[in-house]
Amino acid sequence: MKIGVVGAGNVGSTVAFYAALQGLGDIALVDISGDMAAGKALDIQQAVPSLGTEVIVKGGDDYAALRGADIVVITAGVPRKPGMSRDDLVFTNAGIMKSIVPQVMHHTENPILIIVSNPLDVMVHIAHQVSRLPKERVIGMAGVLDTLRFKTFLAKEACCSFSDVDAMVLGSHGDLMVPLISHCTIRNQPLSQVLSTKQIAALVERTQQGGAEIVGLLKTGSAYYAPAVAVLDMVRAIIKDSKEVLPCSVLLEGEYGEEGVFVGVPVRLGKKGVDAIIELSMTDLEKEQFSSCANGVRQMILQLSPD
Ligand code: LAC
Repeated sequence: MKIGVVGAGNVGSTVAFYAALQGLGDIALVDISGDMAAGKALDIQQAVPSLGTEVIVKGGDDYAALRGADIVVITAGVPRKPGMSRDDLVFTNAGIMKSIVPQVMHHTENPILIIVSNPLDVMVHIAHQVSRLPKERVIGMAGVLDTLRFKTFLAKEACCSFSDVDAMVLGSHGDLMVPLISHCTIRNQPLSQVLSTKQIAALVERTQQGGAEIVGLLKTGSAYYAPAVAVLDMVRAIIKDSKEVLPCSVLLEGEYGEEGVFVGVPVRLGKKGVDAIIELSMTDLEKEQFSSCANGVRQMILQLSPD
């Protein structure tokens, strides 16, 4: 297998490093700054002899390096500065996405795209439109990351191990995201029996602001360790054809009552990309919150191309 990564910033290079650690396939790292991509690729390659894997890692500014890639992870784009929302990036990153995707498509054959750039759900929409790939092969990474954050906060608050927490965050990758409380359990008990309404509300809010909390601390750039791990969870499910169910941003065509919009839902991932969308029951409030997410994504897309 071969994994392409576009964008050799913190997220892209960490994705490449984890992929090498896990020996999932050869890696091509492409960035507008070719030397940076080449340098990081060389650095990662020199770690490989210690890892017990045999992967080849190459980097540069030439998209031809992506030839033969089965999966291409697109992380390119500008990150937030403290005080900015992901949505503030929409015009800049839409332009970047529109210039990258044709080059990726030119050098690959029917790849699976995993989009990481923000605002996530809008960027997946653009990548799908520009690439003309089937909807099963264009997938946004957000729900896995948001779920990791929610699980981290829940386990700490409930003083339990991470593996005791079962949770999933759906909706858009922004302030409106929907941690699905009705399906969340701790040691197999409904969340509402373990934590108070007030505690739950505080953890939901911290999850919704999870990216901003880290942007505020780092001062420059945004989170990358957990985002990269989240990407790798998806890459692994695809490469191993594991059929694992993970929350990802995919095109809805009637599922969850939404039509023609990319937003986060549980999907079964396998070697063809999205194997199936899993429809979970939701409370009326969750349905309302989910539909606000879908409408928010639609509005941003309209803003980009008002006609
Ligand atoms: C975050 C970025 C990756 O949530 O969107 O940290």
